[in-house]
Amino acid sequence: MRRRTNELLLVANNISKNYQQGDKELQVLSNIDLQVNRGDFLIIMGSSGSGKTTLLNCLSMIEPPSHGRVLFAGADLTAMSDNELADFRAEHISYIFQSYNLVSSLTVYENIILPLQIRGEDVREKEHSIRKLMDRLNILEYIDAFPDQLSGGQKQRVATVRAIISGTDILIADEPTGALDSANSDNLMEFFVELNANFNTTIIMVTHDPLAARYGDRVIFLKDGVIGREIIRLNGQSPKSYLDEIYDHVQASEV
Ligand SMILES: Nc1ncnc2c1ncn2[C@@H]1O[C@H](COP(=O)(O)OP(=O)(O)O)[C@@H](O)[C@H]1O
Ligand SMILES: [Mg+2]
Repeated sequence: MRRRTNELLLVANNISKNYQQGDKELQVLSNIDLQVNRGDFLIIMGSSGSGKTTLLNCLSMIEPPSHGRVLFAGADLTAMSDNELADFRAEHISYIFQSYNLVSSLTVYENIILPLQIRGEDVREKEHSIRKLMDRLNILEYIDAFPDQLSGGQKQRVATVRAIISGTDILIADEPTGALDSANSDNLMEFFVELNANFNTTIIMVTHDPLAARYGDRVIFLKDGVIGREIIRLNGQSPKSYLDEIYDHVQASEV
């Protein structure tokens, strides 16, 4: 049963991000305000280049914003040193990168346990849950393979297991179904819904796909680095009506 709370977990306070391009400044995010409650399942949509990955990187402080503040459970992440941030992220934030970020010289299993080892956890204790989760995402047979022997979709699911097995408060996922076929995409989204409902894991996920987006309970649309619109799933709203609303906005914003 999902426990709805009003506990603010993550707050972006007027954040902007600029990149220097030659002698020009490129503003990728402009004055973004965003509030995420514990237990939210937030979807971020927007066309390619609209700043989705940059926003995730700022929220997790992988790339700090140029201006503005990011608060996590009241703590100001933008005021932390690099070491404090590294510890903070290891403890609280799991991240599924758009580019997977697997280590090619390690096997699938070694990749998955790497963050646990870095945190000094007893890995053997987790082996059973790792195998179970790999089985659930249809990649158990690749446990001893190397990343180069896997398809994009298989690598994506290895990166997902690695992120989820850490059991942090918040999961940030950058197009986690981007390389998956529709059956594996639905399977992963159903798993995210369970994670959100059973463990109250807060999820922030970027996707292009309305069929994946419908599993969340809020969608924000990024356009040229600003939040254009937000759609919130209403209590009792049918899945079909929620999906239609998402489709309508995606089509309208592409015109
Ligand atoms: N490190 C960087 N240096 C310069 N420009 C960047 C950098 N990262 C992203 N950008 C630019 O910021 C814009 C948004 O990129 P990104 O956040 O990756 O978009 P999305 O994930 O929505 O496709 C793009 O125009 C991209 O070229
Ligand atoms: Mg991106």
